[in-house]
Amino acid sequence: MFAVYASEPNPEDPLASLTVGERPAEDPPPGWVSVQVRAASLNMHDIWTLRGVGIKSEQFPMILGCDGAGVLDDGTEVVLHSVIGDPDWRGDETLDPKRTLLTEKHQGTFADRVIVPARNAVPKPAELSFVEGAAMGTAWLTAYRMLFVKSGLRPGQTMLVQGASGGVATALVQLGRAAGMRVWVTGRTEAKRELAAGLGAHATFEPGARLPERVDAVFETVGKDTWSHSLKSLKPGGIVVVCGATSGPDAVAELQRVFFLQLRIAGSTMGSRDELADLLEFVRLSGIRPQIGTELPMTEADRGFRTMLDGETQGKVVFTR
Ligand SMILES: NC(=O)c1ccc[n+]([C@@H]2O[C@H](COP(=O)([O-])OP(=O)(O)OC[C@H]3O[C@@H](n4cnc5c(N)ncnc54)[C@H](OP(=O)(O)O)[C@@H]3O)[C@@H](O)[C@H]2O)c1
Repeated sequence: MFAVYASEPNPEDPLASLTVGERPAEDPPPGWVSVQVRAASLNMHDIWTLRGVGIKSEQFPMILGCDGAGVLDDGTEVVLHSVIGDPDWRGDETLDPKRTLLTEKHQGTFADRVIVPARNAVPKPAELSFVEGAAMGTAWLTAYRMLFVKSGLRPGQTMLVQGASGGVATALVQLGRAAGMRVWVTGRTEAKRELAAGLGAHATFEPGARLPERVDAVFETVGKDTWSHSLKSLKPGGIVVVCGATSGPDAVAELQRVFFLQLRIAGSTMGSRDELADLLEFVRLSGIRPQIGTELPMTEADRGFRTMLDGETQGKVVFTR
């Protein structure tokens, strides 16, 4: 079948390992289903996979794509939940030590078909297109958990999102605005700050800017380059929720600030199947739709990867089939 895959780990030149070609289709084992993929979105995780981060070398070649939307053989339209846990695990799948995301052990969604456990195929609301549904399973689910499960923010409080144009960042802005938060955003260019304002940010700032007042929560995906600003921007008792470290993980902890101001730091990873179902319902009820910056046929996936690698995304990059 057609597939976009990583042929081998390539830490220095990830796009050199990106291959558009053919891979064998797999038959679903008992309890799994085969999904005809209609759309799947690009995440930074796919670039980490090309670099060989978070995946064993013997797993290559690996079909990329950790989320998507498609159709079951009985015609049911579904959105995919990427977190595949041990069948005996009970409770939050993201805490299962044996869990993997699609593309870490099992083949991903940039292909004609993908196989997943039946419970990982969540019914897609009819109001959402396949392209919109494809954005939900990773970036939007991660943002949903950061905001509604981890941060403890109440409507009316102020949140700062570090980064304006990314998949997780745009989801945080759109979800935060729809939920009644005061949303502030930093963005690296005027165009990115305008994008955030158009998505509902109440104010935007250059990276590292002194804010008019301190905020209740900061949402971090950037890491080293913004971490110090994140801690400085928090009110006493405030919380920084972190799900990624694109610019590097080795940020200075500034422990004095953390204990003296009683700041809280919460890690967050993906979300549960139930949270994905709740996210889909929230999106349906609120009428918000994910910001899609780039939509391309899967055959032109390399153009989408280049956009992300160059930091030129404008929301989600989605590939269609
Ligand atoms: N733990 C999880 O479950 C989980 C899930 C999804 C993503 N993540 C992580 O979250 C991060 C973002 O993922 P994504 O898919 O949203 O990526 P993306 O679409 O490429 O977005 C990158 C974001 O990083 C911002 N940024 C600011 N300073 C940066 C710098 N110095 N270098 C690079 N980027 C900078 C960009 O802001 P501007 O708009 O200002 O350019 C943009 O908002 C990645 O590290 C990813 O691995 C983690």
